[in-house]
Amino acid sequence: MHDHGGRIRFFAVVAAGAMLACACGDLIKVGGKSGWKPNVNYTHWAAHRRFHVGDWLYFVFDKHYYSVLEVKEENYERCDDGEFVTNVTRGGRDVYNLTEARSYYFISSGGYCYHGMKLSVHVRRSLSSPLAAPDTKSAAPCVVGGRRAAVAAAAALSIFMLRLL
Ligand SMILES: *[C@@H]1O[C@H](CO)[C@@H](O)[C@H](O)[C@H]1NC(C)=O
Ligand SMILES: *[C@@H]1O[C@H](CO)[C@@H](O)[C@H](O)[C@H]1NC(C)=O
Ligand SMILES: *[C@@H]1O[C@H](CO)[C@@H](O)[C@H](O)[C@H]1NC(C)=O
Repeated sequence: MHDHGGRIRFFAVVAAGAMLACACGDLIKVGGKSGWKPNVNYTHWAAHRRFHVGDWLYFVFDKHYYSVLEVKEENYERCDDGEFVTNVTRGGRDVYNLTEARSYYFISSGGYCYHGMKLSVHVRRSLSSPLAAPDTKSAAPCVVGGRRAAVAAAAALSIFMLRLL
């Protein structure tokens, strides 16, 4: 016997998941096309973007030279990699979850911080509604992920619907 009730419930869960995926954060590629490397002014880059709780920073870099360390403000100011909060470095395409409304500080070790590889972001509370008026300033071309998540959710939905047939 087919359990249609169960399937419908499962469908509702998938649909709710898709909506959550759309409401959750964007994947923001640090530095845009430049990625994470020396001689990019990340202060300037960050000043033209908005960061919200639930967004993800996406660092793309050459892991043989550079790294991503979350540090305290003092260490960021002094380019001091002697102690850090989180080592974000993995394979060079690494993500960091912005989970709180506060300031975050990142530097590269190896002296590259002195060559500009330092980033501070000021994270605001997430928008209460995904239907909130779009902010033209934050609609930057390098902000992806919200859409990508929606596409992935739509793909998952259609696969599931095919299996229903
Ligand atoms: C980086 O950009 C900021 C903001 O636009 C500016 O104040 C600062 O002087 C720049 N730093 C360098 C090293 O160019
Ligand atoms: C990352 O942030 C999302 C919200 O965008 C949250 O649901 C998830 O639990 C967080 N993951 C980790 C590993 O902290
Ligand atoms: C951070 O992690 C990377 C990869 O695991 C490692 O190669 C590197 O030495 C670590 N950096 C520090 C400062 O611990």
